[in-house]
Amino acid sequence: MNGQRKTLNSAELRYNGHTIQFPVFEGSMGEKTMDIRALRKETGILTYDPGLINTGICTSDLTYVDGEKGVLLHRGYSIEDLAANCRFLEVAYLLIFGKLPNPVEQKSFSELMNLHSMIHEDMQHFFRNYPEKAHPMAVLSAMVVSLSSFYPELDRESATERIDNTVTRLLSKIRTIAAFSYKKSVGEPFVYPSYKLRYCANFLNMMFSSPVRDYTVDPVVERALNLFLVLHADHEQNCSTTVVRTVGSSGANLYASITAGICALWGPLHGGANQAVIEMLEEVLSQGMSVRDVIESAKRKESKIRLMGFGHRVYKTYDPRAKIAKEACKNLLEHLGHPDDPLLELAMALEEAALKDPYFQEKHLYPNVDYYTGIAYRAMGIPTNMFTLLFAMGRLPGWIAQWLENSRDGEQKLMRPRQVYTGEVANRVLPIGERA
Ligand code: SDX
Repeated sequence: MNGQRKTLNSAELRYNGHTIQFPVFEGSMGEKTMDIRALRKETGILTYDPGLINTGICTSDLTYVDGEKGVLLHRGYSIEDLAANCRFLEVAYLLIFGKLPNPVEQKSFSELMNLHSMIHEDMQHFFRNYPEKAHPMAVLSAMVVSLSSFYPELDRESATERIDNTVTRLLSKIRTIAAFSYKKSVGEPFVYPSYKLRYCANFLNMMFSSPVRDYTVDPVVERALNLFLVLHADHEQNCSTTVVRTVGSSGANLYASITAGICALWGPLHGGANQAVIEMLEEVLSQGMSVRDVIESAKRKESKIRLMGFGHRVYKTYDPRAKIAKEACKNLLEHLGHPDDPLLELAMALEEAALKDPYFQEKHLYPNVDYYTGIAYRAMGIPTNMFTLLFAMGRLPGWIAQWLENSRDGEQKLMRPRQVYTGEVANRVLPIGERA
C-alpha cells in the first residue's frame, strides 16, 4: 500500500433487498475512491467498465494528473518545475529511487549508465539479420526481450543491487538499441557509445556521427531532447503502463514487462500518435487541403483524417506537456534556422482553428503531448518512424518505476479482470457429417 491515503466515509449500494456499504477513501490530492473489493462476494454482481474509464487499478506515489486543471506532478514536483530545472536522468532517478539525486548519487548513476551503455556484441547479429525496413518499435521490442537472455541474472526476487543493475542496464541500452536500429536502416556502421558523452549527447552521437563526416552534438539540440524525454517520463496508468503492471503481476521479469509496454505504446491512439501527427500534417500539405477542410473532415466519423495529437482520455484541457513542447519546438526550429517550418505553421493554424471550433470545445479536445514533439524530432533529423521509439526512451523510467511499485505493493495481485459472457449457452457437438 502506498503513501498518503485517508478513509473518508462510505458509499451505500442498495440491491436486491440488500444494502451494502463500501469504504470511500481519498488520495493525497483529494481524489475520492470507492473501494469495491468486496462487491462480488457481498452482492454476487460485477462492475462493467470498458476501457477502465472509471476504475483505479492501484494507488501510486509516482505521478498525479488532474485532467480538468491540466496538472501533472511527479512525486510532488510539477512538470513545469522539472522541465525547467532537471535533466532527463535526474527525473528518471526521481521516479525510480524516490528522490532527486544529490551530486554523489548523480555521479554514480551516470557511471552505471556509462558502464551499461554497450550491448552484447552477439546482439549485433540480430541487427544484421533483421529486415532492413523493420519498424524501429519491432526492433526495440525484439532487442529488449532478448536482453533477458543476454543478462539472465534478473529474476523476480532479485536483490536490490541486481535490480539497480537491471534498471540502469535498460535505461542505458535503450539508447544504443535505438541508434543501432537507425544505423542499420540507413546501412551505416554502428557507432559505439562514448564514455565522454552524457545521456542524450551519447544518443545523438550514436545516431548521427559517421566515419566519413565530422559531427559535433549541438548543445541546444541536446537540451531540447533532454526536455522532450522529461515530458514523457511517466503518466500514471496510461495504456502501456497498465500493460507493464499487468505483465509484471504475473511474475514475468522486468525485460518481458517492458517489452509488452513497448508493444502497447506502438499503437496510433497512444504513443504512435507522434508519428501519425507528422503523417497527417504531411498528407494535408501534399493534398493542398485548407485548415477548414481538415477541421471539418476531422469532425466526420467516417473520414480517414482524425486530428492526431488532439484529445486525451484524462486531459479535458490543454495537456501541460503540450504547452512546454510547443514552446521548445518553436525555439529549437528558430535555433536550427527553420522558424517558419511549414509543418509547424500548419500545426499551429490547425490548433488555433480547432480550439475555436464548437465540436472540439464541446468534446474538450486539446493538443496532447504528441502534437508538437514530432515536429521537433523531425527538425533534429530523427526519421518519422523513430518518433514512437523516442517516446519509449522517455517513458522507460516511468514503466520501470511503476513495475517496481507494483511488485512491492502488498495490495496488488495477479491482474485478472472478469467479464460478462453473452455467448450461446446450450450447444451439443454433432458428428461432422451432420454439421451445416
Ligand atoms: C498519449 O493516457 C495517457 O496518459 C496517454 C499519454 C501518455 O503520456 O501516456 O498521454 C500519451 O497516448 C496521448 C494520446 C495520443 N493519441 C492521439 O493523439 C490520437 C488522437 N486522439 C484520440 O484518438 C483520442 O482523443 C484518444 C484515444 C486519445 C482518447 O480517446 P477516448 O478518451 O477514448 O475518447 P473518445 O475516442 O471516445 O473521444 C471522445 C469523442 C468522440 O466523439 P463522440 O463519439 O463523442 O461523438 O471525441 C472525439 C471522438 O470521436 N475525438 C476526436 C479526437 N479525439 C476524440 N475527434 C477528432 N479528432 C480527435 N483527435
